[in-house]
Amino acid sequence: MINLGTVNITDETKALMIKALNDGIISGGKYVAAFEENFAKWLGVKHAIAVSSGTMADACALAAIRNYDGGKRNEIIVPALTFVAQINAIWCNHLKPVFIDVNKDFNIDVERIEEKITDKTLAIMPTHLLGRPARMREIEDLAIRYSLFIVEDACEALGSTYYGSNVGAIRDVGCFSFFVSHSITTGEGGMVATNNGEIAGLVRSLRNHGRKSDHYHEKFLFPHIGFSAKMNAMEAIIGLGIMPMLDSCITRRRDNGLFLNNLMKKSWMREKNHEYIVPHAYPIMAKSHEERQKLLIDLPQKYGIEARQIFYSIPTQCEAYAFLGEKPGSYPVAEDIGLRGLYVPCHQNLSREELEYTARILNELV
Ligand SMILES: Cc1ncc(COP(=O)(O)O)c(C=O)c1O
Repeated sequence: MINLGTVNITDETKALMIKALNDGIISGGKYVAAFEENFAKWLGVKHAIAVSSGTMADACALAAIRNYDGGKRNEIIVPALTFVAQINAIWCNHLKPVFIDVNKDFNIDVERIEEKITDKTLAIMPTHLLGRPARMREIEDLAIRYSLFIVEDACEALGSTYYGSNVGAIRDVGCFSFFVSHSITTGEGGMVATNNGEIAGLVRSLRNHGRKSDHYHEKFLFPHIGFSAKMNAMEAIIGLGIMPMLDSCITRRRDNGLFLNNLMKKSWMREKNHEYIVPHAYPIMAKSHEERQKLLIDLPQKYGIEARQIFYSIPTQCEAYAFLGEKPGSYPVAEDIGLRGLYVPCHQNLSREELEYTARILNELV
């Protein structure tokens, strides 16, 4: 099977895991701190805080900015098309998602943001979906004009850049996931990145139940309502082991995306001059919903190529959020992608033969 996810674990990493197990270090501690330090340095931010997943990165980042803002504003502007985890992180924080349709490039339609800004808007939370950077310049202009935070969901985009800046490090806070299908994986895991020391301090507390600190006299003082969202030492050791390979993982992943793109009859990975896309996967739009559904079955079962749909429009196509009562047809582009979109693998560990095979099958079927 040509899988969507891939794992990069060296023998040195395995040896360090065994050493940590022998030393009885399996929860937090020095390995988590070292991974955070390495990651922050690589990304070019002052603070990186490791958490248990990308969902928890989103949740802790949102809770931190709400606290930082004093709890007065509660609306978060988000794209209608994203992974449901991002919206769950908003909802579970008692914040309100305000949805915006996406463009055909799968990212938030920046032209439609301003009309949804109110005096309750706390943040814009763009997603860099499938590795493509959202239009951050326009988003930053709006954020500055209306004094809003920006929380970047860069879970699918580690390594992508926008006008030379790493996504997830462009403004207030960035969130990453190390789930297996993303640029790098630690099994499960995530990271919050920020240059703001106060927000970083809040995230550190919020991932740890809202504790004041881990010092013995403060361990049971809880100034905040937090989560249990810490990364463990095994995940951090895997992350640490990947850091020296990160640049090559990113380059190979991007090269594989472009290689596949060049072999396709119709190209789906179009990149603008100011973008450097590290693809989460390779997107395709089927001709119809029926064709998409058939491909989702046939690609893995008949041809051994894993495939997934490109999510749904959360407010109008996701059962869990039906209670919001949004009318179908309100987010036409997101809904169309929800019905016809799918993606296939193009990760760093695929061979040229596997990519050629994938392109041949897709060109025949789509
Ligand atoms: C855009 C987006 N946000 C958040 C998440 C949540 O990450 P995790 O699965 O690590 O919780 C994902 C996961 O795939 C994602 O694609």
